[in-house]
Amino acid sequence: MSEALVAQKGPYAVDVTAGKRYAWCACGRSQTQPLCDGSHKVTDLKPIVYKAEKDATVYFCGCKQSGKAPLCDGTHAAL
Ligand code: FES
Ligand code: FES
Repeated sequence: MSEALVAQKGPYAVDVTAGKRYAWCACGRSQTQPLCDGSHKVTDLKPIVYKAEKDATVYFCGCKQSGKAPLCDGTHAAL
Protein backbone atom coordinates (compact mmCIF):
# COMPACT_ATOMS: atom_id res chain seq x y z
CA MET A 1 0.00 0.00 0.00
CA SER A 2 1.44 3.37 -1.01
CA GLU A 3 1.70 6.11 1.54
CA ALA A 4 -0.07 9.41 1.06
CA LEU A 5 2.26 12.41 1.12
CA VAL A 6 1.41 15.51 3.11
CA ALA A 7 0.74 18.14 0.44
CA GLN A 8 0.09 20.86 3.01
CA LYS A 9 -0.41 20.76 6.81
CA GLY A 10 -3.81 22.37 6.55
CA PRO A 11 -6.93 22.44 4.40
CA TYR A 12 -7.48 24.07 1.02
CA ALA A 13 -10.56 26.29 0.82
CA VAL A 14 -12.35 25.74 -2.49
CA ASP A 15 -15.53 27.42 -3.73
CA VAL A 16 -17.56 24.54 -5.14
CA THR A 17 -20.56 24.67 -7.45
CA ALA A 18 -23.79 22.74 -6.83
CA GLY A 19 -23.95 19.53 -8.88
CA LYS A 20 -20.27 19.54 -9.86
CA ARG A 21 -17.89 16.69 -9.03
CA TYR A 22 -14.38 17.23 -7.71
CA ALA A 23 -11.69 14.55 -7.69
CA TRP A 24 -9.77 15.12 -4.47
CA CYS A 25 -6.13 14.04 -4.52
CA ALA A 26 -5.70 11.29 -1.92
CA CYS A 27 -2.05 10.54 -2.68
CA GLY A 28 -0.61 14.01 -2.02
CA ARG A 29 1.39 14.01 -5.27
CA SER A 30 -0.79 16.20 -7.45
CA GLN A 31 0.68 19.51 -8.64
CA THR A 32 -2.85 20.95 -8.73
CA GLN A 33 -3.78 20.51 -5.05
CA PRO A 34 -6.20 19.75 -3.62
CA LEU A 35 -7.46 18.09 -6.79
CA CYS A 36 -6.11 15.07 -8.66
CA ASP A 37 -3.88 15.57 -11.72
CA GLY A 38 -3.21 11.88 -12.40
CA SER A 39 0.09 11.75 -10.48
CA HIS A 40 -1.27 8.90 -8.33
CA LYS A 41 -0.49 6.52 -11.21
CA VAL A 42 2.84 5.64 -9.57
CA THR A 43 0.95 4.57 -6.41
CA ASP A 44 -1.94 2.26 -5.63
CA LEU A 45 -3.98 5.19 -4.35
CA LYS A 46 -6.97 6.70 -6.14
CA PRO A 47 -8.74 10.06 -5.91
CA ILE A 48 -11.98 10.41 -3.96
CA VAL A 49 -14.84 12.05 -5.81
CA TYR A 50 -16.71 14.77 -3.94
CA LYS A 51 -20.08 15.85 -5.30
CA ALA A 52 -21.12 19.35 -4.29
CA GLU A 53 -24.73 19.46 -3.08
CA LYS A 54 -24.80 23.27 -3.06
CA ASP A 55 -22.66 26.29 -3.84
CA ALA A 56 -20.36 26.60 -0.84
CA THR A 57 -16.79 26.97 0.38
CA VAL A 58 -15.44 23.52 1.17
CA TYR A 59 -12.28 22.73 3.12
CA PHE A 60 -10.49 19.88 1.38
CA CYS A 61 -7.86 18.04 3.40
CA GLY A 62 -4.32 19.00 2.42
CA CYS A 63 -2.47 16.67 4.78
CA LYS A 64 -4.18 13.56 3.32
CA GLN A 65 -4.55 12.04 6.80
CA SER A 66 -8.13 13.10 7.52
CA GLY A 67 -10.54 10.51 8.88
CA LYS A 68 -13.31 12.29 6.97
CA ALA A 69 -11.55 12.53 3.60
CA PRO A 70 -11.86 14.34 1.31
CA LEU A 71 -12.75 16.99 3.89
CA CYS A 72 -10.50 18.28 6.68
CA ASP A 73 -11.37 16.94 10.14
CA GLY A 74 -8.62 18.72 12.07
CA THR A 75 -6.18 15.78 12.06
CA HIS A 76 -3.54 18.08 10.50
CA ALA A 77 -3.16 19.84 13.85
CA ALA A 78 -1.42 16.75 15.27
CA LEU A 79 1.17 16.45 12.45
FE1 FES B 1 -5.90 17.12 6.62
FE2 FES B 1 -6.98 19.04 8.05
S1 FES B 1 -5.74 19.22 6.32
S2 FES B 1 -7.15 16.94 8.35
FE1 FES C 1 -3.23 12.27 -6.04
FE2 FES C 1 -4.60 11.58 -8.21
S1 FES C 1 -2.86 12.81 -8.11
S2 FES C 1 -4.98 10.99 -6.19
